[in-house]
Amino acid sequence: MDQNGNRKAMDRRRFLCGTAKSAVAFAVFASELVHADGVVGNPDADANPALKLALDPRRPQFHLLPAANWMNDPNGPIYWKGRYHMFFQYNPHAAFWGDMHWAHAVSPDMVHWKHLPVALAPTPDGPDAQGCFSGTAAVRDGVVTFIYTGVANAPQDQATLNDGKVSLRESQCYATSNDSELRTWTKRAAPVIAAPPKELQVTGFRDPSPWKEQDGWYMAVGSGIKGKGGAVLLYKSGDLQSWEYLHLLCGGDNNGTANANASNPVDSGDMWECPDFFALGDKHVLIYSTQGKVFWQTGDLDRTAMVFHAGQSGVLDFGSFYAPKTQLDKHGNRVLWGWIPETRPVAEYSASGWAGLMSLPRVLTLGGDGRLKVGVDSGIEKLRGHEEKLRLAPVSAGGREMISDVKLKGACGELLCVVKPSAEPFTLDLLSPGDEKEAKDARDAKALDSQASLLSIRYSHANPKELVVDQQRLPIMLAAGEALELRFFVDGSVIELFVNGQVTSTKRFYYPGSVASEIAVSFTGSVADVSRLSLWQLSPISKDRLTT
Ligand code: FRU
Repeated sequence: MDQNGNRKAMDRRRFLCGTAKSAVAFAVFASELVHADGVVGNPDADANPALKLALDPRRPQFHLLPAANWMNDPNGPIYWKGRYHMFFQYNPHAAFWGDMHWAHAVSPDMVHWKHLPVALAPTPDGPDAQGCFSGTAAVRDGVVTFIYTGVANAPQDQATLNDGKVSLRESQCYATSNDSELRTWTKRAAPVIAAPPKELQVTGFRDPSPWKEQDGWYMAVGSGIKGKGGAVLLYKSGDLQSWEYLHLLCGGDNNGTANANASNPVDSGDMWECPDFFALGDKHVLIYSTQGKVFWQTGDLDRTAMVFHAGQSGVLDFGSFYAPKTQLDKHGNRVLWGWIPETRPVAEYSASGWAGLMSLPRVLTLGGDGRLKVGVDSGIEKLRGHEEKLRLAPVSAGGREMISDVKLKGACGELLCVVKPSAEPFTLDLLSPGDEKEAKDARDAKALDSQASLLSIRYSHANPKELVVDQQRLPIMLAAGEALELRFFVDGSVIELFVNGQVTSTKRFYYPGSVASEIAVSFTGSVADVSRLSLWQLSPISKDRLTT
């Protein structure tokens, strides 16, 4: 996943250093690559970029993504006047990172989405002239308000985002909505926080996240202290506009690798991006992104000192997932959204005309053991067609290796596999049919490798604390008698995997051509151990892969 972080850093440098000319050169280069991609072949699609995207089988059908071009972090998700609003980092010009705007989409249910016009764009000569970076929505006196990071060119000694090539000032900016549909926004001309506290040597200063306490507003800002590691700065305000710096909410205690020489402090853990801080049950939760991963901590907020003391901690998702943000849904549940980046080369995704998607809404709860639990919001189930029970047909003489005869069509659906607590060691693979022979050959050679399948799971009760997903060992803790529950959402080129509310892992997969893979399940082990294996086709949420 570090790969993805690096990849975006590379895009970011490309954009920030680039001139309009180099952007044109890149676009020409990208259009030459389209043919290598194999999507094209339909002359109408060649002439019509929106049609090309609507026909691209790799473009998800039940996830939110922009009509075209690049997206990254979710920003300011909010339930307002009966509808869910999602904003997100967006480049309106191309399918690579740059010129950050806030795109806007609206939904009645967090499942079906409709695009609305862009909500925020950089203001020439403003504090966000080089981009409207991530932020949060808060409601003050009945008005939805954004606090977000603006970036603008600045001399080296005033820059907080500085990799030797770009020199940007990050400041915290403020905008208020003008209408109940949150379509148009009025920006305050000057930032509400122009610079980080003078006494701190920060590694970055962005992604403000305010919340309300009885005695006023508090705000977490993503940062880090040079030589000491990632940290969250804490501010206080009575009106969301005039802010006083208090101290570190947490971090800054040599938690990262503290590599002061790294050109991008996020790569070494010295800068924490996108902090999100909220109460959950009788605990508080901090979520932050660094080193290409998302971390969670549960613990206690000392309300006298206003300092967070972390207890348990972990990784929020073990795959392609970054910079998440939470909101309350209409029932008061804490719902998390994350950016699912591309994992293919920049030239390929740029040529495809789109990059990135939003995760499904994930509901966060606190386990009895104080750990964070993550499940998918049940609203997605309304997209289900008939439940089909998968039949596993033996492919080897002993009958321990089986492949399902019912397949998921169009790479658009959900699979559920429940394995009994007493199960023998087993492997489960999601295969595209072309891979079946390859997978079997690999097994025959006693070397099933994850390359032969889209996603591979291994589990053995001899090692009950670990679930192997592809080559990665993920921590898991099943209570005595608890079955293993694997829930997969497959959509175009993404698989979101949820395991017993404890572990999630998001995987991208790509294939050439203009037809989506059918997907089968391959199981090696005793069928008697599988208490449920079900498949649902899921209905697309639009007719054209959300390209309009
Ligand atoms: C995280 C991030 C944020 C920043 C935004 C810019 O992915 O780097 O820290 O605000 O993306 O697009």
